[in-house]
Amino acid sequence: MAENPTTNNSNEEQEDTLTNRQGHPVTNNQNLRTVGSRGPAVLENYDFLEKISHFDRERIPERVVHARGAGAHGYFEAYGTAGDEPVSNYTRAKLFQNKGKQTPVFVRFSSVIHGGHSPETLRDPRGFAVKFYTEDGNWDLVGNNLKIFFIRDAIKFPDMIHAFKPDPITNIQDGERFFDFCASSPESFHMVTFVYSPWGIPANYRMMQGSGVNTYKWVNQEGVAVLVKYHWEPKQGIKNLTQQQASEIQGTSFNHATQDLHDAIKDGDYPEWELLVQIMSDNEHLELDFDPLDDTKLWPEDLFPWIPVGKMVLNKNPEDYFTEVEQVAFGTGVLVDGLDFSDDKMLQGRTFSYSDTQRHRVGANYLQLPINSPKKRVATNQSGGQMQYKLDRAPGQNPHINYEPSILGGLKEAEQDGIEHTPFIEGDLVRESIDRQSNTKQAGDTYRNFEEWERADLISNLVSDLSNCDPRIQIKMIALAEEADEEYGRRLREGLAQASTKGSSQKPLGNRDGDKAPEKAVKKAHDADPY
Ligand code: HEM
Repeated sequence: MAENPTTNNSNEEQEDTLTNRQGHPVTNNQNLRTVGSRGPAVLENYDFLEKISHFDRERIPERVVHARGAGAHGYFEAYGTAGDEPVSNYTRAKLFQNKGKQTPVFVRFSSVIHGGHSPETLRDPRGFAVKFYTEDGNWDLVGNNLKIFFIRDAIKFPDMIHAFKPDPITNIQDGERFFDFCASSPESFHMVTFVYSPWGIPANYRMMQGSGVNTYKWVNQEGVAVLVKYHWEPKQGIKNLTQQQASEIQGTSFNHATQDLHDAIKDGDYPEWELLVQIMSDNEHLELDFDPLDDTKLWPEDLFPWIPVGKMVLNKNPEDYFTEVEQVAFGTGVLVDGLDFSDDKMLQGRTFSYSDTQRHRVGANYLQLPINSPKKRVATNQSGGQMQYKLDRAPGQNPHINYEPSILGGLKEAEQDGIEHTPFIEGDLVRESIDRQSNTKQAGDTYRNFEEWERADLISNLVSDLSNCDPRIQIKMIALAEEADEEYGRRLREGLAQASTKGSSQKPLGNRDGDKAPEKAVKKAHDADPY
């Protein structure tokens, strides 16, 4: 009988023996192979070449947004109902049907604008992305903590992110660039109102809400659809920070939110969220002063109540950050039967962007990685591409038939389950914004719904950053605040006037153009001001 080459050796390999990735035991991990002890080194030192060239490739591109994140595993448990009704009245998605049914999940929380190692105390929306490994394949609900967004059309996203990210020359984040974009995109004012209040700095990941933000559809067995919005409500309660509280934490920790999540799960204090939905019939709802497909708007709770449909528990920390949290790939296109897209223009743009960036960021075969792969059978005719390590073959499948249709064997199309939802669509092909814009009304409602400490923090934060901006930007932002709420506008105007008299942190007015006197800048802003 042939002897096992790995055991037929006087220096028998132990469990803890270091090897390279070819399986060769490494006998010297301290010294390069050199000509004499002083060198030079030789190029055939394979162990070193493998080690250093892998190290040179340890980083993959960080996410273009949401680079800083933390993750955890857990499960989703369905209630089987939507309020008093069986959930099947609205959706046939299997994960929601039966009370107590559990579906494994992986969640990644994140901040948005700042890089991979940035402090977790910075003012920013927070990402709240959930991958459900359902029996029908994966469903990703890629949401944020806040329930609305800055823009309503996907074509504006790259510009928005450029304005919010650091200046391309100085690499310094500049509030003036942020407000320059927002002042010229009035639909962003509601989101600015949230982000500049304490809601822009959640105390940690466990004590924040989540939301799908965009409008989706639920489809039932008869193929009938409703519009739906998703909300996650933390059972730990909600806690946000003032700027001062955040600065104090930042003085001692850049990782407080990741630490908090990790420690809670390690200690068995598993965080939980309830999943609630708001439902609307699938039409334009002309009775509303906003469009249900506009993601800068909240759906009023009195008209569209929050209906609980399940809960999520996070009970396991990742075993390896890179393998799981860094390489996980979520996308808004990843839906299962019974869940569908709406015509929300942001959602449609997002749906292209996620898998496109992931083919670049992680690689063409990113869906074969265990964290991204469904926990069910996968059988495709796709093959090749960098880092493929297995074929998506069905057991017993003829390996020669990697195409469909075929009479010789191979994979067959699935049966359609339930009646397909086939919305009728007609219209002129145009480049136009939606009609019912109502850019500032809900910002006023949100301002009035804040508690006084939240309003005070909002004004103080806006004044602090806006006082460094070109006066034309200040004037536009004041006009938006006035349009939203008289008091909001007045307090912002007074705050900026006071900051300007103090002149402490303020850049000289009009300093963007050497030849432009401050008065001219203000006049120009008035002339151009559409509000
Ligand atoms: C047209 C608008 C948008 C575009 C083009 C876009 C694009 C992207 C891209 C390219 C990524 C990086 C994905 C990756 O590398 O894996 C990303 C991540 C993310 N986006 Fe968006 N996004 C948009 C709007 C939104 C909105 C409205 C939300 C909130 C609902 C959102 C939530 C997220 C989250 C949570 C992540 C991080 C996912 C993770 O943890 O891996 N995005 N987005």
